Amino acid sequence: MGIDGPWVIIDDSFRTRGLRIEMNRTYITTPIYYVNAAPHLGHAHTTVMADILKRYRCMLGYDVFLSTGTDEHGQKNQEAAAKSGLSTDEYLTGQSDAFRRAFDLLGVDYDFFVRTTRPFHKTQVQFIESRLKETMAPDGEPLIIQKLYSGLYCSGCEQFKRDADLTDDGFCLEHPNLRAEQTEENNYFLRMEPYRADLVTYVEKNADFVQPEQYRQELLVMLSQPLEDLCISRPKARLSLGVELPFDPEFVTYVWIDALVNYLTNVNWPDPSYETRWAGVEHLIGKDILKTHGVFWPIILMAANVPLPRRISVHAHWLGAGGQKMSKSLGNVVDPFEVIETYGASALRWFLARNMRVTSDSQISVDLIRATYNTELANQLGNLLQRLLKFSAARFDGCLPASDLDPKDNEHLKAIRQLVCNAYSANNLPSEANGFEPVELASIPKMAEDLLHAIGLMNEYVTREAPWTLIKEPANASRVQSIVYANLDGLRMVLEGLWPIMPDIANRGLAMLGQAPLELTGSPRTTLAGGRHEFIAGRLVGGARIGVIETLFPRIETIA
Ligand code: MSP
Repeated sequence: MGIDGPWVIIDDSFRTRGLRIEMNRTYITTPIYYVNAAPHLGHAHTTVMADILKRYRCMLGYDVFLSTGTDEHGQKNQEAAAKSGLSTDEYLTGQSDAFRRAFDLLGVDYDFFVRTTRPFHKTQVQFIESRLKETMAPDGEPLIIQKLYSGLYCSGCEQFKRDADLTDDGFCLEHPNLRAEQTEENNYFLRMEPYRADLVTYVEKNADFVQPEQYRQELLVMLSQPLEDLCISRPKARLSLGVELPFDPEFVTYVWIDALVNYLTNVNWPDPSYETRWAGVEHLIGKDILKTHGVFWPIILMAANVPLPRRISVHAHWLGAGGQKMSKSLGNVVDPFEVIETYGASALRWFLARNMRVTSDSQISVDLIRATYNTELANQLGNLLQRLLKFSAARFDGCLPASDLDPKDNEHLKAIRQLVCNAYSANNLPSEANGFEPVELASIPKMAEDLLHAIGLMNEYVTREAPWTLIKEPANASRVQSIVYANLDGLRMVLEGLWPIMPDIANRGLAMLGQAPLELTGSPRTTLAGGRHEFIAGRLVGGARIGVIETLFPRIETIA
């Protein structure tokens, strides 16, 4: 390993195969979503987490590229398009636009939105397939073979299933409404077994390859049995919506192969410019797609001689009220659009960030979102900011208090700053893994909790010190200013800290405090304007005029 400039390391390990790693440059991907139905809460979740992680890392001085998009080929998209009565193109475009709109409404700052139907993507899928077709597996035999296959196919998963993946009466465990269909086809297959031993070694050696550990262990279990050949084609007679195989026009590419390659084509692979992003790539996924990302994808990459992803970060699922999978018939579906309409995108982002768990499923319902909105956002954050600002405007001539701090209030402000810093530094230690960013998906709820704790402490402090009572004595005038200043400056730092989770609310709050907004910059917008953010006490300008005081979280009563 040799150092080549301040941030650049050349690493010749198996993992990176000579890629240039720029230590502050990373690339976050989300799964790309099937367009056979409207965007739902699960899609919103992964993409919002990716955006929070991007902003969080940008606050720490990293340069982060974020991709998301839509997966538009395959059987279920084809069936949905046929049912829609629209032309396939119109259907796909309309559905893909709905995803883009959802992510825009949610305030997601994606740098690239891929549609797998775009020409460059399709050409590069064919390019990688041609490369694979010419490849010999490590056992000296051809990597890709053609053979007759018969098996049970689940169109929901777009995968052939083993008996163990199905209920006794043949329904898919992931899609209880879909009976797997007996399918017999002549297809192309990629032989995965010759790569299994290498992949096991790789997963064992790289403790952070799959996060959190529970999923790495699951992956090792998947890899403990011989791997079946992976079917990489579908006959055109059955499926026309797909990328034609470059070596046999009677077939289209299996949708998963096509979809996974988006992670490369989004950063222009195989143009060498893809390298510095790819060296820091992290795939965010739900636990349902661990096998495709942890087994299929690394083997495809090994076979195509492309370095493996640096990390796969996995999260568990959201369940509806009652702890059951959301479904229309149970009436427990949470529609992200309705939640945004009533509570705002920030409230949804906050709920997801604060309550998600990566290792176990969590519940979500409109009632839970409302309760969190009212207790944490409206009563604690919104109320404190508004109360202090209104008090300040009324008592200090329409201005912020002076910045001279009483020692006691200074100590309190230092404690608040420390909490905000903790939210950012808990796992921001120098990384062993070639400088790869150690702020993890799993640490997002902890960040939210630390910041909420800081807000709670300020509420308690203000209640205890009661500036509204103290002000009745003229002798207390400067102490009152000091209390209010300390807490408004504390709130300023908390709002800055909250920016990755609620960028819109944070900037509106900061504007009320006379502060410039936090913004992403660049083309693409991959860095924080002004670079790494430092939380510094005392930045609030004492005595500055207060503008319009708005209500960040209007109270929302139960809708009967
Ligand atoms: N198109 C494939 C992915 C290809 S990636 C190269 C696919 N699409 S999907 O539309 O079914 O989206 C699956 C992803 O949506 C999950 O991995 C997860 O990120 C997210 N979620 C779907 N349901 C979810 C929950 N109930 N909870 C949280 N996230 C979930 O699979």
